[in-house]
Amino acid sequence: MKADRAGIAAAARSLAAGGLVAFPTETVYGLGADATNGAAIARLYAAKGRPAFNPLIAHVADTAAARRLARFDAAAERLAGLWPGPLTLVLPQSPDNGVADLATAGLDTIAVRVPGHAVARDIIAAFGQPVVAPSANRSGHVSPTTAEHVLADLRGRIDLIVDGGPTSVGLESTIVACLGAGAVLLRPGGIPRHAIEQRLGRSLADPAAAPEEDAPRAPGQLASHYAPRARLRLNADVVRPGEALLAFGKKLPPGAEAAAAMRNLSDTADLVEAAANLFSHLRALDAAGAATIAVMPVPQDGLGEAINDRLQRAAAPR
Ligand code: TXA
Ligand code: MG
Repeated sequence: MKADRAGIAAAARSLAAGGLVAFPTETVYGLGADATNGAAIARLYAAKGRPAFNPLIAHVADTAAARRLARFDAAAERLAGLWPGPLTLVLPQSPDNGVADLATAGLDTIAVRVPGHAVARDIIAAFGQPVVAPSANRSGHVSPTTAEHVLADLRGRIDLIVDGGPTSVGLESTIVACLGAGAVLLRPGGIPRHAIEQRLGRSLADPAAAPEEDAPRAPGQLASHYAPRARLRLNADVVRPGEALLAFGKKLPPGAEAAAAMRNLSDTADLVEAAANLFSHLRALDAAGAATIAVMPVPQDGLGEAINDRLQRAAAPR
């Protein structure tokens, strides 16, 4: 459906009836279900083919709604100032917050996000309850940044798609845990590390450095989570015969002119543009049929950390 008033009302009705609704956020398209409805969430896991131990992000319309789900320590309070936006906080759950145990995979923590996309917020506000929404792709596939990507993965398995055009950020949210032991970066994403550190006034710990053994991880961070069919060859400085090319910047490597297919993440080497293009370019090159995609190096600064994280996962052996 179109992302107009009728589409938003239909989405809210479908969620209330236990339906599965795909909708745009500023990061990627999410597949939403009522966070308080265990049966709807069970259908959501089935539609995605997702392992049920993988907890979901509860999306809410504003910080006040987030406070009803979880406890905020001082670091979380500061980071909540970045909402609405591509940031997810993992926090201790408030008791009796109504969220189904299946949504949090039985953990006593919960991932919460206030998305910045007007359509997402309108749907959540119209529905009036938290909405759990993983990326709207089959488990293990590349995240969708357009309604067409959602259809390609989930046609016939979901109740409604609200089409808000291509997403602006193109990478999933940055996930930070605030569980009393300082802020820990669980997943690099749409807000770069330096923006979060600036807000915190100190540097972010990485999960490996977290003190407790049972420190939260983002369990969805399986090595091969973002997997196109083609093999990825990273940091390529040459394109070999038969390979497709995922380029970055103006200066192409030798062999580029003979590439089986080519997409450029950003010919001006702009990391924000590259993030927005990453998943759709991977899909396009995959569809072109080459066995291997040569990927030019992408710098690690700013959104480059999250781009390189997704590329490494896409390249991991399966
Ligand atoms: O940008 C996004 O975050 C998108 C849009 C739709 O909001 N959503 C998204 O959801 O990427 P998903 O389910 O694909 O990824 C959520 C990640 C998973 O890696 C999951 O393991 C982690 O969040 N997660 C959820 N709850 C957690 C918790 N309590 N502790 C640690 N990690 C958690
Ligand atoms: Mg996902």
